[in-house]
Amino acid sequence: MRPDFFQTSSPDSGDPAAELRAGIANSQAHVPPWYLYGEIGSRLFDVITVLPDYYPTRTEAAIFTEHLPAMAKATGIQDCTLIDLGAGNCEKAPKLFPHVQPRQYVPVDISVDYLRGVLTQLQREHPDIEMVGVGTDFSNNLVLPDCVHSERRLFFYPGSSIGNFDQEHAIRFLQQIKSQLHGDGALWLGIDLIKDHQTLERAYDDDLGVTAAFNRNLLRNVNRIAGTDFKPRDWQHVALFNTRQNRIEMHLEATNAVTVTWPGGSRHFSAKERMHTENSYKYTPDAFRELLAQAGLRTVGMWTDDQQWFAFFAAVSA
Ligand code: AVJ
Repeated sequence: MRPDFFQTSSPDSGDPAAELRAGIANSQAHVPPWYLYGEIGSRLFDVITVLPDYYPTRTEAAIFTEHLPAMAKATGIQDCTLIDLGAGNCEKAPKLFPHVQPRQYVPVDISVDYLRGVLTQLQREHPDIEMVGVGTDFSNNLVLPDCVHSERRLFFYPGSSIGNFDQEHAIRFLQQIKSQLHGDGALWLGIDLIKDHQTLERAYDDDLGVTAAFNRNLLRNVNRIAGTDFKPRDWQHVALFNTRQNRIEMHLEATNAVTVTWPGGSRHFSAKERMHTENSYKYTPDAFRELLAQAGLRTVGMWTDDQQWFAFFAAVSA
């Protein structure tokens, strides 16, 4: 048994260098959050997920340990087609296998190459489950190959990754999923809840400085793609909770005045000027239920931890 692999849209379509340079040249400089990842960034993120200050990963895992049987029961999906969005190292979804008994497991990530090794190994451990690895930029356009079954689809989107999208983008994304549920499917999705600001800010500015390294490493990725000459030493990590927008913002702040150059352009930053690198939206359970409703999805269950720090939603077509 060997898994099938497909790349249905290219992660580097468009002109990433031009888009990056435009964002940097903007009077409010910004870089999209996916430049945080890559060879070093993905490893730093893996470390973040086990830091004491970063509560989301372990809180989500505790919710699973306690509530997976109830979640499966409330959703009523067996022999499902399990579609794992942002699967990466495929660590979380196999915990669902005994509860939802997938006939087919479909991990989706931006690049199919991330999935080859792990999925080949996972297929050996689960020879009875058909496995299909899909590379696609699903945040904008979720394109699944025809061999993905259309019956009893269970979309799994853990980690509160939807927090990177603003409300408008989140609704568009949820509508896309809804249109591919084909009536009998369901969505399981993790979100981070609003809590005291100190806990929130520490999760994004940890004692060991791993998140700071994660943020500053983005500059190396930007240099490679946009041909800029950012020096990570000139930039300091800033994480703050924006109470008006209910989001954590990550910025890089120039420690002194710097001029960044690239082929055909440059941008001056004064001391303390910031470049915005990530948003991570937080919700109340009611606000998120409302967001799902706006995308035509009806909540059938919500599970949380004792402190109500994190929540898992189960939703179906309204
Ligand atoms: C992967 C988007 C869920 O927002 O908590 C962690 C990324 N950034 N620490 C998050 C992140 C800084 C993470 N998500």
